[in-house]
Amino acid sequence: VAHAIWQNFLSPYDTVIDATCGNGKDTCALAKCVPQGKVLSFDIQEKALENTKKLLLAYQLEKRVELFLISHDAFPSSLLPGSIRLVVYNLGYLPGGNKKLTTLASSTMRSITLAQHLLAAEGLISIMLYPGHPEGAVEKKLLLDTVNKLSTALWEVCHLEWSNRANSPSLLLLRKLGSLESPPPPCNTK
Ligand SMILES: C[S@@+](CC[C@H](N)C(=O)[O-])C[C@H]1O[C@@H](n2cnc3c(N)ncnc32)[C@H](O)[C@@H]1O
Repeated sequence: VAHAIWQNFLSPYDTVIDATCGNGKDTCALAKCVPQGKVLSFDIQEKALENTKKLLLAYQLEKRVELFLISHDAFPSSLLPGSIRLVVYNLGYLPGGNKKLTTLASSTMRSITLAQHLLAAEGLISIMLYPGHPEGAVEKKLLLDTVNKLSTALWEVCHLEWSNRANSPSLLLLRKLGSLESPPPPCNTK
């Protein structure tokens, strides 16, 4: 569902962030959507970046992607506010990797706050939540409590849940409606 939404939403020249690149499946899906654009992909595990690089090479998509061995709560300061069209989070641990190296509610929340500022007007933040493990449940609660308080004038918040499955993964979408900066003072027409 997330991939279908991204494909429908993105344009060829967009710059996007994959904040948890893991084994690279999401990064590859994003790179296919932006043939003239750029994907900036982050992970804290070297293994994740290696796996992502291998997948990109297999699909000849490596030129569209920059990989960063950096936590997503420390995006490079060279990224300009308003320059990113989509920021993607697929939370939790690396499939097939160490389950203790999972995303954490506090740093995920810091990252999403940074992402809100990097996002262009009308941009989208897409977050896959996994409440079936203990830290994932904490993360889901903190994120939902926080985003449910966002200004309705500035953000649209949508939460897709698979209702007949206990603790199923769910998809949280935050659409930025305008600039987060305060509006300029009114023009003096005299
Ligand atoms: C569920 S996996 C991502 C799956 C991936 N998007 C894919 O398509 O294969 C979650 C990833 O988040 C990474 N991660 C955990 N904490 C992180 C952090 N603070 N910053 C960036 N990545 C983090 C983990 O190392 C793991 O690889």
